[in-house]
Amino acid sequence: MATIGSDIKAAKQYLEQNDVIGFPTETVYGLAGNALNEAAILKIFEVKNRPKFDPLIVHTHSVETLDAYVLQIPDVLKACMDVFWPGPLTVLLDKKSCIPDLITSGLSRVAVRIPNHSLAIELLQSIDFPLAAPSANPFGYVSPTSALHVDTQLGNQIPYILNGGNCKVGVESTIIGIENNKVVVYRKGGVSIEQLEEITGTVQVNEHSSSNPQAPGMLKSHYAPNKQLVLLQPNVFLTKSENVGYLGFNQHQISIPQKYQLLLSDTGNLQEAAHNLFDYLRKIDTWDIDTIYVSLVPEMGIGRAINDRLRRACAK
Ligand code: TXA
Ligand code: MG
Repeated sequence: MATIGSDIKAAKQYLEQNDVIGFPTETVYGLAGNALNEAAILKIFEVKNRPKFDPLIVHTHSVETLDAYVLQIPDVLKACMDVFWPGPLTVLLDKKSCIPDLITSGLSRVAVRIPNHSLAIELLQSIDFPLAAPSANPFGYVSPTSALHVDTQLGNQIPYILNGGNCKVGVESTIIGIENNKVVVYRKGGVSIEQLEEITGTVQVNEHSSSNPQAPGMLKSHYAPNKQLVLLQPNVFLTKSENVGYLGFNQHQISIPQKYQLLLSDTGNLQEAAHNLFDYLRKIDTWDIDTIYVSLVPEMGIGRAINDRLRRACAK
């Protein structure tokens, strides 16, 4: 198992040796390595068992450092960066040649983000390269929101996990870019569409597809536990209770034993629901039952990102 600690110096040392480590952010934990070093990048793909066509997000600590990695920044994206950074927003920008093609899977744009987590920023400030970090889970499985989640699945493959506590936001960053002068959302996440549109005006939301591996975050079945998850239609109540569990928003199912039910937020708070989502998906995966029914949350604010993850978790 990996060492779990909050020693920035140890983390820095591993990264300088082109090793990869667990890395806390406000969204989910990342699997971090030197974004400018091919050996480190290859290790990230290998540990995650991630196909090379799925590009990586580059993390940095300040807008100033970006100049070294990207070409011009369109005004509307700069405005979003000013409002939401540090925070759960990733921006696609035309890359300079120092960013290896392995990072972008050969695409001309690189995804960049400044995380809103003090330990992550401290680490990024202590090194002189940016960090590539996909979520620290095996490819296709539920993302990790605690150091323990990372350790459980990847601990035997990495030396160190920087422990920054439980991730506050709980779903990944929102990914945006520009196409034909329009702001496009490629993945719904911690910054809601409503928040974005206050800055940008109407955005285009690219819904995921399983057939277009260029769109980010994108495979139809993703974020999926091993258990069979079934999406329950609104206002449908279960009558069969044997061998069945339930993951709901704020209301229990009467027919199912309480020990096989989890509510994302019993007060109906969407932020709380996002914060609990991946931890609960991991918990229900350990239950000794066959099928878990899942209800969507209200399709608004961060609820849209939650529903996106729930739909994909059910799309096996
Ligand atoms: O919140 C987050 O974004 C977390 C934390 C660790 O920062 N990271 C994360 O990384 O979710 P990952 O690799 O699990 O998801 C990143 C998504 C992928 O689906 C990938 O396809 C997309 O971003 N992506 C990365 N670079 C891209 C690029 N150049 N063009 C299009 N999509 C890109
Ligand atoms: Mg991921």
